[in-house]
Amino acid sequence: MIETYVQNIKTALNGFDPTVLIILGSGLSVLADKIENKIVVPYTQIGFPKISVAGHKGELIAGTLGSKKVLCMNGRYHLYEGHSPALVKDMMSSFEKIGIREVIATNAAGSLRADMPAGSLMMITDHINFSGQNPLIGLNNDQEGPRFPDMSNAYDKDLQERMRTTARENQIKLYEGTYFFVVGPNFETKAEIKAFRLMGADAVGMSTVPEVIASVYFGMKVVGISVITNQSADIQTTALSHEETLFEARQAAVDLQGLVLKFLEK
Ligand code: HPA
Repeated sequence: MIETYVQNIKTALNGFDPTVLIILGSGLSVLADKIENKIVVPYTQIGFPKISVAGHKGELIAGTLGSKKVLCMNGRYHLYEGHSPALVKDMMSSFEKIGIREVIATNAAGSLRADMPAGSLMMITDHINFSGQNPLIGLNNDQEGPRFPDMSNAYDKDLQERMRTTARENQIKLYEGTYFFVVGPNFETKAEIKAFRLMGADAVGMSTVPEVIASVYFGMKVVGISVITNQSADIQTTALSHEETLFEARQAAVDLQGLVLKFLEK
């Protein structure tokens, strides 16, 4: 499968060689608008499966952003759709094989902190994988990566510092915190929220961690940004919905667009 993906991506990119992958979260497609000299490749043309979530398109967009050659995943695979975590491993492997060295992972997430409202941007400094799932489950090829990969620095320190500096220089408020990964698709109960907070989490969401684990495994450097789309169920007084997630994400995506653009220009 990986060889097919690699071949199909290379054919579609026709000699263009991006080094930075940007993974777009729910409602965050606006980030791709500024990409110049776009090459758009539907996932199905690569051999990736169809995506079933509203707000997720299912295409790769290659081009130039902030003077860097980037590849953008406009739409991602969630475990709650029934996709195997191994699919994420194969995808990330194919991206590494075409020359990707840095990954900017974005997502929509719920805040567990009263002082981090909807519309905030949070740089992910660490994560808790509470899913019971892992993209690396299965036989290991020692040529590709270690059987027991180190995750103590999953989010690259230098990229974090670059992101922090970029935010400061451009007066963009950037929270920092630990992202708690649940499979979903239901939003959390109040008791779950309390438990996750006690465990040290600042935000909760249903994505990103599989991609991060696979990226680290294949030796790519990761920086992660959550767009906070809602307060958690015990703080927020109204029921959570995917529509609200998309709405808030689209508002904050403009800040995120500025931040990522400046980050890439650095
Ligand atoms: N919980 C889980 N995933 C989410 C949330 C949430 O509150 N908001 C956006 N994605």
